Amino acid sequence: MAIKMKQVIEKETILDVKNLTFAYEQEKVALENISVSIQKGEKVAILGANGAGKSTFFLTINGVLHPQSGDIYYRGEAMTHKNVNTFRKNIGIVFQDADNQMIASTVKAEVSFGPINLKLPKEEVSRRVDAALNYMNLSDFQDRPPHYLSGGEKKRVSIADIIVMESEIIIFDEPTAALDPVNAVMLEEVLTKLSDEKKTILLSTHDVDFAYRFADRILVFCDGKIIADGTPLEVFENDGILKKANLKKPMLLEIVQTLKQTKKFDCLQRSEEYPTTIEGLKGLLLDNES
Ligand SMILES: Nc1ncnc2c1ncn2[C@@H]1O[C@H](COP(=O)(O)OP(=O)(O)O)[C@@H](O)[C@H]1O
Ligand SMILES: [Mg+2]
Repeated sequence: MAIKMKQVIEKETILDVKNLTFAYEQEKVALENISVSIQKGEKVAILGANGAGKSTFFLTINGVLHPQSGDIYYRGEAMTHKNVNTFRKNIGIVFQDADNQMIASTVKAEVSFGPINLKLPKEEVSRRVDAALNYMNLSDFQDRPPHYLSGGEKKRVSIADIIVMESEIIIFDEPTAALDPVNAVMLEEVLTKLSDEKKTILLSTHDVDFAYRFADRILVFCDGKIIADGTPLEVFENDGILKKANLKKPMLLEIVQTLKQTKKFDCLQRSEEYPTTIEGLKGLLLDNES
């Protein structure tokens, strides 16, 4: 009973999308009747082929695109043309292509752009910009022109651009695309840190291994519809969904499922746990086998 009550208290809907339909052109819908509720602090990964509607979904929920029908609520308040800035401010998007976002002549000016636009007092702008630059390890780059930075550095600037807004929900559209392995690790660390600080994270990715270990919820988009919504294990154990959305099974899940079937590892048969990291698997095999 106590546990149930705790769950009820902890559930706090921050974003509610109801029957959202969006079309760029009349005959072809990009999003068809999408309904989903996002809870505060969730780490949600959206999977789906190119053209499935992931980016369009992100642009509608932060008010850049206006849906033909449906409603979007942030903390219970429905989006209208009057309050769209509330959505822009509280739901930040780190776009896939950092290049297109950079407009200022220095990194510092670039990161200052958003809070200046919010018309915040000078000291508050300065405090936020310093904090965001520091957060993304960019203090030494602040006087550099963003255009001459490396891909990983540009990505860090585009994340600082959003962190400075202090948005409650942060969207990352294919954040690891085009990053080298070192920067991909950096990105995952930043995502984990933001999540630990109670930010709500929505991201799209084609990297199922990353989604499996990082997310606590997975949405699968296919042709503008949500065809699955569940825990990573629920979604990745569903071979029908994987086939329909053309998704691979995460390698670690494939390994654990195979090992369970061999029945050679007692500890894996006994445990209901599905480790999401190599360390977790090692721990389970080595600690329990003895
Ligand atoms: N600016 C646009 N104008 C017209 N059609 C678009 C535009 N952007 C995306 N689309 C179409 O909308 C659908 C969904 O695209 P998108 O949301 O970009 O998918 P994803 O991010 O999952 O790859 C695709 O059919 C795509 O071709
Ligand atoms: Mg996209």
